[in-house]
Amino acid sequence: MSEAVVLREQEGRVAVLTINRPSKLNALNQQVRDEMLEHLNAIESDDSVGAVVITGAGEKSFVAGADIQEFEGRSPFDQREAMSFPRIFDVMASFPKPVIAMINGFCLGGGCEMAMSCDMRIASDRARLGQPEIKLGLIPGGGGTQRLPRLVGVGNAMRLILTGDMIPAAEAKDMGLVDMVIPADELRAQTLELANKIAAQSPLTLRVAKEAVRASERLAIEEGILYERDLFCLCFSTEDKKEGVDAFLNKRAPEWKNR
Ligand code: COA
Repeated sequence: MSEAVVLREQEGRVAVLTINRPSKLNALNQQVRDEMLEHLNAIESDDSVGAVVITGAGEKSFVAGADIQEFEGRSPFDQREAMSFPRIFDVMASFPKPVIAMINGFCLGGGCEMAMSCDMRIASDRARLGQPEIKLGLIPGGGGTQRLPRLVGVGNAMRLILTGDMIPAAEAKDMGLVDMVIPADELRAQTLELANKIAAQSPLTLRVAKEAVRASERLAIEEGILYERDLFCLCFSTEDKKEGVDAFLNKRAPEWKNR
């Protein structure tokens, strides 16, 4: 058995998945994708987990992209097979629990695409982000040409994708590619605090909230608002809505049932 390349830890109600190939700057190879899928499958039905944090091992890199070594000698059909369903980034985007990218260093190519598939991106002040595929004679293939312009606008996305330049975390925050920038030595503590705060909410309601926000990526505003209304009303069928409202009215903390 080869050594695990994705490690799982539990911090309160948060599962931390660490991509563990630091000597290759945590580049994504097939083994990483397979193990990530296995962990997410297990976490999906694990009631002790309310939210997931994804990060990279070591101090230097979150994920420095797809493993370029695997591209060598591949035919277009081999590559297409390697990119067949289920695709890990899409699994993360539609995962029924919140997924947070804790970006501890280089966040490039497939690493940036992985982070963009998460629900939030929290970066260390030492992180550097970019889509350098153009320098390999390639374009982003993990959703980068679609998710990046939605986050940062077409002009910023064009600049990053057409130059392949890396940008520091502060600039990524200014353009909306990351949501928070935190000093490197506080990144884990602050990210876990936020993740546990989220994970303390009703799992059922978190799931519906995420589904509603994700819908904004594909629906026109009118349809999105109607869809939100239906999901809002669906919440009226849950015990957790009854519990949350009752707890507020009786000035006590709610105890979620996940029903
Ligand atoms: N795929 C495979 N291996 C990678 C990799 C990737 N995407 N990124 C880094 N590595 C490997 C390097 O080959 C090197 O391995 P080696 O020690 O066996 O030679 C090791 O990780 C360390 O990387 P190195 O380039 O020596 O570190 P650096 O600090 O000089 O440079 C980067 C860091 C991120 C600028 C540089 O590694 C880089 O440009 N990586 C590729 C980024 C990329 O194009 N990603 C998109 C892929 S589609």
